[in-house]
Amino acid sequence: MAESMKGLHRTHRCTEVSSQNIGETVTVMGWVQKRRNLGGMIFIDLRDRSGILQLVFDENDCGEAAFEKAGTLRSEFVIAVTGKVEKRSGATNSNLVTGDIEVRALAIRILSQSETPPFPIEDGIATREDLRLKYRYLDLRRPELQKNLMLRSKVATLSRQFMAKEGFLEIETPMLGKSTPEGARDYLVPSRVHPGTFYALPQSPQLFKQLLMVSGYDRYFQIARCFRDEDLRADRQPDFTQMDMELSFVDEEDIMDINERLLQYLFKEILNVDIELPIPRMPWQEAMDRFGSDKPDIRFGMELKDVSSVVKDCGFSVFTNALEAGGSVRGINVEGQGNMPRKKIDALIDMAKGMGAKGLAYICVGCGENGAHKSSFAKFMTPEEMEALVAALDGKEGDLLLFAADKNSLVYNVLGSLRLEMGNRLGLMKKDDFKFLWVTEFPQFEYSEEEDRFVAMHHPFTMPMEEDLDKLESDQGSVRARAYDIVLNGNEIGGGSIRIHQDDIQAKMFRALGFTDEQAQEQFGFLLNAFKYGVPPHGGLAYGLDRLAMIMAGADSIRDVIAFPKAKDASDLMMEAPAEVEPKQLEELHIACVPEEE
Ligand code: AMO
Ligand code: AMP
Repeated sequence: MAESMKGLHRTHRCTEVSSQNIGETVTVMGWVQKRRNLGGMIFIDLRDRSGILQLVFDENDCGEAAFEKAGTLRSEFVIAVTGKVEKRSGATNSNLVTGDIEVRALAIRILSQSETPPFPIEDGIATREDLRLKYRYLDLRRPELQKNLMLRSKVATLSRQFMAKEGFLEIETPMLGKSTPEGARDYLVPSRVHPGTFYALPQSPQLFKQLLMVSGYDRYFQIARCFRDEDLRADRQPDFTQMDMELSFVDEEDIMDINERLLQYLFKEILNVDIELPIPRMPWQEAMDRFGSDKPDIRFGMELKDVSSVVKDCGFSVFTNALEAGGSVRGINVEGQGNMPRKKIDALIDMAKGMGAKGLAYICVGCGENGAHKSSFAKFMTPEEMEALVAALDGKEGDLLLFAADKNSLVYNVLGSLRLEMGNRLGLMKKDDFKFLWVTEFPQFEYSEEEDRFVAMHHPFTMPMEEDLDKLESDQGSVRARAYDIVLNGNEIGGGSIRIHQDDIQAKMFRALGFTDEQAQEQFGFLLNAFKYGVPPHGGLAYGLDRLAMIMAGADSIRDVIAFPKAKDASDLMMEAPAEVEPKQLEELHIACVPEEE
């Protein structure tokens, strides 16, 4: 039996009722969290997106029929109750905003009944994520997710307001377009009208926002859906949201300034956290050398040290061979962990091997017999060489020193990852400690083993640093870009660059990337043509809104700040997408599916 709302009007959300309203009659609506029958009275916890309010049914107040109805209520029934606000008769509940009041019910309507939900609608449940995703609409009722989505909404609203005040125009760009050179795989959409051709969903609005600068819009902003067919991780979804901007007649300083003030505003308004400006900056090379990562978490130290020069003549061939092959030997000091059990150290070594390392060398400073060092490679070293190594890492008694020897990229990855692992285990990464960092001077190119050529690290329209322009075609590996990432607590929450607006530099860039003029014209002809008609110097940045909201909400995955996210295998478990379609639909699209070969 579902009753109508006819003649009823909600006066308050649950937690909008307060001791200020004592004596007033209110009408509230929501879901039954819990019913308790106690000494001839029925207590209902009513829940809506604002929180929980206690309702009390006493036959003397509400009459027999309403009292009986209240007795039939079960979890997740949707009800409307009119009643009088009173001071709590029983003990006050300091866990609730409304803990000092209750509503003495006078009338009730059951607007809708509910089956027993597959998991409890409350915080901190241990329910498997796939079940929660299947019943996402119920999961989304839980207070923690409601809080996350409300926070996310605030980020969007406040950003829009801030950007409008700064003179940005909100302009939408198409979803159906052509592949953009952002590096990930595209999602394709077949064309019915043009047999055999495909649109690509945008990986970002990059080319459109640059064209808007050519068109004179000056300052563009958009909260834009983006699509990338990549392997998923906790901070990656196939469709995700960017807060995207582009500005004309600016350089890095202008862009960073606006974004620092935007971040400061959001953190103050939403979390009441003060962010000190300016946000520190660190060139990419320094980030790699000190943290083994292009998105350093600077909430704690445990920095990498290059010990190549210390071990260059030592007797441990693992070290010297790596150096001879052009690599390096680096280490980190995990302070106070020298007495880690052997099993756990072996697990760290396995972690390193899982990342492609051949091993991981360690010294437990002064943790052996009679204060000697415990080490996996002491037998290859002289005591002096060992001491020099310990000194290089400021090792004190009881410290655990970890060393990796290999090509640089692997050493960075292994030690950077172990640093994060140990920082996490040691509780050095506090969620309410927000440490921002600009990483600047990214390499313009990275070498792709797969394609056997240099590819753009950001995209082919990123301006190289002036000092490196002459190396564009001779020494690509050392060209740095006017690109920057904004990093928060070890997460890349956004990135951008100053773009090339001069056609001679753009032509050089394409040559450096191994494009012929024809190839460049074919892929980006519309942009190159547009640039012939007067293009302002411009640059921009895009945030991963999901990542920003995740960190602000203290969540561990961007799935927790997205209303309807995909599971790890990129499927939607609720609506069961992707799915097969009718043969007729395929026919219209001129598509025939080839079964996967065994
Ligand atoms: P970029 O590729 O660095 O730059 O993307 C910008 C930001 O988007 C977020 N992001 C993602 N978030 C969730 N899931 C994903 N799969 C995903 N991929 C990226 C990250 C990232 O920092 N057009 C340029 C921006 C510019 O140059 O202005 C761009 O897209 O937080
Ligand atoms: P081995 O002589 O190969 O047993 O190596 C001695 C120690 O060095 C072991 O603890 C290995 O895990 C470690 N090791 C091996 N290769 C490397 C490497 N590339 N970098 C750091 N340590 C290594």
